[in-house]
Amino acid sequence: MSQLPEPTAPEQAYSQQLKQIIIQKIQQAGGAIPFAEFMQLALYEPQWGYYTGNKHKFGAQGDFITAPELSPLFAQTLARQCQQVLQKAKHDTILEFGAGSGILAAGLLESLEQLGCLPAQYLILEVSADLQQFQRETIGQKVPHLLERVTWLQALPEQPIKGMVVANEVLDAMPVTKFQVIQNGIESFYVAVDENEQFIWQTKNCNDSEIATLVEKYQLGDGYESEYNPQLKPWVQAIAGCLDSGVALLIDYGFLQDTYYHPQRSMGTIMCHYKHHAHPDPLMYVGLQDITAHVNFSAVGDSAIESGLQVVGYSNQAQFLMQCGLLDIMESIEDKQSKDYFNYSQQAKVLLMPQEMGEMFKIMALATAEWDMPLLGFR
Ligand SMILES: C[S@@+](CC[C@H](N)C(=O)[O-])C[C@H]1O[C@@H](n2cnc3c(N)ncnc32)[C@H](O)[C@@H]1O
Repeated sequence: MSQLPEPTAPEQAYSQQLKQIIIQKIQQAGGAIPFAEFMQLALYEPQWGYYTGNKHKFGAQGDFITAPELSPLFAQTLARQCQQVLQKAKHDTILEFGAGSGILAAGLLESLEQLGCLPAQYLILEVSADLQQFQRETIGQKVPHLLERVTWLQALPEQPIKGMVVANEVLDAMPVTKFQVIQNGIESFYVAVDENEQFIWQTKNCNDSEIATLVEKYQLGDGYESEYNPQLKPWVQAIAGCLDSGVALLIDYGFLQDTYYHPQRSMGTIMCHYKHHAHPDPLMYVGLQDITAHVNFSAVGDSAIESGLQVVGYSNQAQFLMQCGLLDIMESIEDKQSKDYFNYSQQAKVLLMPQEMGEMFKIMALATAEWDMPLLGFR
């Protein structure tokens, strides 16, 4: 924590704007708001939130780097999985949630064109208007002739689609309820403000039956802290509702439930990212840092099955990318002495190595009921 860079004066001024809005909400609520509401405001307050505001978040100049930002290999490899799904009759659409800088959309469109398998339409559902603009610019620069295929949606498509849903690192950016187990029950965390206008934690009795079930099932003991994502189930249900036929690929860092709520993971999974420094305090640098929580993939699978989807694949990023042919793509680069080849090799290591992104990131594939083909990435 001591090594965290200090925000610049303009950044502090930016943060101050959001801080005042949150303080007002806290006062209106009688002194404290649930942590999930704080996280929602910190990330998505319409004007000053981390994702909604005009701040460079992605890549080397930003706060963190995602797989599609790290390397074009990610989109090129993922495109092969999309190709398999899009080759099915009438599968003509990709719907991407939370498209970030637009780099994955541009990369997928470019690769699918090369594979002779362009979707008729590429839909993007992005909550941040600022990022929608960023995505338009990225796609316009990288694949200008394909921009006309891209449509930005303000809500889920009215007509269910046939094809693919893709979401990379979207679930981890959803607000979570933070709770702790105490001797006689469960408390959830709230955010209040002290006399120096610093955000501070408060706890209140928690009556959430889903959390109570988890605590009982995993015998979570006194002092155990963790998170629960209340938006996950409705979000997966929404995907099921808008996918008429095809496959959804959800990519994120996370675990199955017994690992997620393992007794040893007693401090939860909240992680913040500021200028490539990771730390666990979401109450500082409000509006300037990303706040994330790991994804409970068992909850994703259970919600999918309840909504009529099948879980047709679950693996880590390394296995998935290898199955989709990442090494073949590397092999097809003719000049093995070139700088490009060298760069790709370095990037492939980060995507695949267990201690980098290879094992921490998981991919879950959900398919509509009639899907009966083994997916390329999960053979
Ligand atoms: C961590 S970034 C990942 C960006 C991009 N997918 C990537 O991999 O580089 C999270 C993205 O999800 C968006 N987002 C968060 N919640 C969302 C939701 N419910 N629906 C659509 N987009 C959402 C954010 O605005 C942001 O673009």
